[in-house]
Amino acid sequence: MDTQKIRSETPGTKTSIHLNNAGSALMPQPVYDAIVEHLDLEMQIGGYEAHARAMPAFERTYDAIAEMINCHRDEVALVENATMGWLMAFHGFNWKAGDRILTAEAEYASNVISYLQLAKNKGVLIDVVPSDANGQIDVTKLEEMVTPDVKLISISHIPTNGGLINPAEAVGKIAKKHDIPYLLDACQSVGQIPIDVEKIGCDMLSATGRKYLRAPRGTGFLYVRKSFMEQLEPPFLDLHSAEWTGANSYKMRDDARRFENWENNVAAVIGLGVAVDYYMNVGMTDASTRLRALADKAREALSNIPGITVQDIGAEKGGMVTFSHERLTAEEIKSALASKQINVSTSSIGSTRFDMERRQLPTLVRASFHYYNDEDELNSFIAAINNL
Ligand SMILES: Cc1ncc(COP(=O)(O)O)c(C=O)c1O
Repeated sequence: MDTQKIRSETPGTKTSIHLNNAGSALMPQPVYDAIVEHLDLEMQIGGYEAHARAMPAFERTYDAIAEMINCHRDEVALVENATMGWLMAFHGFNWKAGDRILTAEAEYASNVISYLQLAKNKGVLIDVVPSDANGQIDVTKLEEMVTPDVKLISISHIPTNGGLINPAEAVGKIAKKHDIPYLLDACQSVGQIPIDVEKIGCDMLSATGRKYLRAPRGTGFLYVRKSFMEQLEPPFLDLHSAEWTGANSYKMRDDARRFENWENNVAAVIGLGVAVDYYMNVGMTDASTRLRALADKAREALSNIPGITVQDIGAEKGGMVTFSHERLTAEEIKSALASKQINVSTSSIGSTRFDMERRQLPTLVRASFHYYNDEDELNSFIAAINNL
C-alpha cells in the first residue's frame, strides 16, 4: 500500500492525528472534489438538470457498493445513514405478538430501542444471546435459543464500543440452517474489514458512508437479498419506492429502491460512490490488514502503560481500540488529546448498554485507526497517553 500517496490525498492528515474514524473518517481529496464539482453544477444549471447530467456517476454508486459487498446493484438502496436503512428493513416485517428477536450483547442502542418499541407496541419478545468466553456472540447458545417463534436474528457485526468483530458468518450458517431472516448491522464493519454478503449469508445489511468508507456525512445504504425482498414492505413508501397504479392501488418497486425515497443529496451519493471506488482501489484486504495491525500495536503499547486498561474483547479484533484510565475520565483524556490535535472519541453506556452493564464498564476512550494513519501518529498518540 502506498501510504505516502494515500496520506497526500488525505489533506486532514496534515493538521491532525485523526483516530476517530469510527465516528467519521477523513475524506480523501477525490471524494471531496467529486462532491464540490456536483454542487457547482447544481449552482450553475439547477439540481434536476445537474442530476441528469451526472447520472452515470450517480448510478455508479450502486454498482460500486454491489462490487464491494458482492451483491447485485438491484439489491442496494441508498439512504441517508445506516439507521434509516436498518429501520426500513426492520419495520418492513409484519410483526405479531409473540414473535421473537435474537440479538447479541454488543447490540447498538438505536437497534435495541426499536426492539423495545416493538415489544411495547406489539408484544414482540427480545432475547439477548450471551457472549462466549472471548466476548463475541456465543453461536452455540444462539442455536440453542432458536425456536419456531424466532422471526429475526439481528446483530451488530462490529459494535460501536470496541475492537470486537462478531462471527457474522457463523451466525449466518445458523440463520440459514433454521431458515430465519438475518439482519446485520455492518455500520462499523463496512470499510474496516472486507464484507461479502454471500459468505456471511445475511438477508439484510445496513451501513453508513462517513465512518470507515470515508464518504461524506449523511450517506448510507441498505442491502436486501433479492430472494428475500418480497417479504418486506417498508414502513414508508412514496412515489419513488412505489407506483400509484389506480385510485385505490399502489405497487412497490421490485428492486431495493423500494427502501428509498425520492429526494436525495445527489452530490453526497456521488461522493459515496467515489469513496467506495477509492477503497476498492486501495485494496479491501490490504486496508484491513494495515488498520488492524496499527490497532494491535496500539493495544500492546497501551497495555504497558501503568494505570491504563485496554477493554477490547473478541477472538478477532479490528481497528477500534478502547481503554480506561484508573484516575482520569474518558472525557478528560479526550480533551487532553484534543489539545494536541489528536482526535479520539468516547463510548458510554448509552450506546451499548447490555455489554457495558455486563462488563461494568465506565465510559471508555475510543481510538479508531484507519489505513491512512501511520506509525508516527501511533507513536505520538502513545506518547501523549504516557504523558497524561
Ligand atoms: C454499530 C452501529 N450501528 C449503527 C450506527 C448508526 O449509524 P448512523 O449514524 O449512520 O445511522 C452506529 C453509529 O455509530 C453504530 O456504531
